[in-house]
Amino acid sequence: MEKIQVNIKDVLSMVPQANIDSLKGCAATSLSKLVDGTGLGNDFLGWVKLPGEVSAELLEDIVATAASLRSNCEAVVCIGIGGSYLGAKAVIEALGNSFGRHNGPEVLFAGQNIGEDYLYELQEHLQGRRFGIIVISKSGTTTEPAIAFRLLKEQLEKAVGREEASKLIVAITDAKRGALRTLATTEGYKTFVIPDNVGGRFSVLTPVGLLPIAVAGYDVKALVAGAAEMESATLEGRDTSAIEYACTRNALYRAGKKIEILVNYNPKLHFVSEWWKQLYGESEGKDHKGIFPASVDNSTDLHSMGQWIQDGERTIFETVLSVEEQHHTVVIPTDADNLDGLNYLAGKRVDQVNKMAELGTRLAHVDGGVPNLRITIPTLSEKYLGQLIYFFEVACGISGYILDVNPFNQPGVEDYKRNMFALLEKPGYEKETEAIKSRL
Ligand code: PA5
Repeated sequence: MEKIQVNIKDVLSMVPQANIDSLKGCAATSLSKLVDGTGLGNDFLGWVKLPGEVSAELLEDIVATAASLRSNCEAVVCIGIGGSYLGAKAVIEALGNSFGRHNGPEVLFAGQNIGEDYLYELQEHLQGRRFGIIVISKSGTTTEPAIAFRLLKEQLEKAVGREEASKLIVAITDAKRGALRTLATTEGYKTFVIPDNVGGRFSVLTPVGLLPIAVAGYDVKALVAGAAEMESATLEGRDTSAIEYACTRNALYRAGKKIEILVNYNPKLHFVSEWWKQLYGESEGKDHKGIFPASVDNSTDLHSMGQWIQDGERTIFETVLSVEEQHHTVVIPTDADNLDGLNYLAGKRVDQVNKMAELGTRLAHVDGGVPNLRITIPTLSEKYLGQLIYFFEVACGISGYILDVNPFNQPGVEDYKRNMFALLEKPGYEKETEAIKSRL
C-alpha cells in the first residue's frame, strides 16, 4: 500500500542500530499485549482494533448528523478539551484552507480554555448567526467545557428557543454516566457514545473526532479506512514502522535524549503536533519517567528556536514530519530588475525551497548532534492522516510498555483539578479548601 514511512538513518551515527534492535523483542511483546489485552491499563484498549471495527451504521449516522448541522447552521461550535478536542482540531487544520475559507459552516472550538475574553469574543462572533453546538466530554464533568456549554446553550436558547436549540445540539459522552449524559437525556439532544474502553487521547476515530471532522466537510470514511489499513498492516506484521519508531525513541531516551521535538515544515500540521504532544505526554510522563514531547513549526521556528536546537544542550532528538506532495503549485517569478537577488530561485516551486530548508536543517542538526527520525507523509489527505493517527497511537502504546508505565491512565491530571475545586470552594471539597487556604 502507498503509505507513510519511517526513516531512522539519521539516528544511527548517534545511537547504534544494535541498541535499537535490542528493544525489538520487548516491542513485539508489547504489541501482542495491546492486541491480547494482557498489559497495564488493559481496560482502555478499545482503540487498538477500532478502525477495522467501526460499524457502517455508526459512520452513516455521523455523516447524516453532520449533514443536518451543515445545512442548518452558519457556524458549529465544538466544545471539548484535551482528547475531546485535539484530534478533531488536528485533522480539520491539516485538511483545511489556511485562511478559513470553508465549504459549509464555520467550525469553531470552545471549552479548551477558560479565557474570559475568548468566550466573550466567541459569543459576540456568534451573535445574530444561526449556530449549532457539539458538546464532547467523556466524563461529562470537566469544568472547562461545562462552563463553555452553559454559556453557549443559554445564548442559543435565547436566540431560537429551547425546543429549537435542542435540535441544534449534539452531545458526545459516556453511555450512562456523567452530568452531560443526564442533561442530554433531559433535553432530548441527539447523542453519540464514547466507548468505555477508549480513553480521551485515543478517541479521535470515535464520534469525538469524526463528527466535528464530518461537519467541517471532510471524508470520515476515508480517514477511518486509512487508519484501518495501518491497523491491519501493523497487527499482521506487514508494517513494522510503529515498532521501529517506538524502539528508536526509547533507545534515544536511554542514551540521554530526554526531549523529542516533533518538527513540521507545513503550518497545517501545527495541531497534529499538539495532538501528538497530548498523546505521548499524557501516556508516558509517569513514575518520574518519560520523554518530554515538544514541537516546532519550521521554517518559522528556525528563526526562534533554531539556535537552541543547533547548539544548545544535547538532550534532544527530532522527529520530522515531511509532506511529500503539496496540493497547489506556486512558482517564484523572474524579476527583470532582480533587486532582491532572488532570480536564482526563479522558476522553482516554493515547495522546492521548503524541501531544501528541510534537508539543509536536517544535515545541520545531525552535524550538531541532534538525532533525526523522519516520517514521510505522501500528501495531506484523509487516508494518510488516518494512517498517521493509528501509527502514532499504536507506537505510543508499544513505547509506553517498553518504558514500563501504564500508557492509558492520567492520574497526574487530577492534581490541578483538586486544587482548583478547593480554591473555588466546590461542594464536597470542604477539607481540601481548608487545607489549601492555610497554605496561602
Ligand atoms: O486523554 C484524556 O483522557 C484527557 O485528556 C481527556 O480527554 C480530557 O481531560 C477531557 O476529558 P473529558 O472528555 O472527560 O471532558
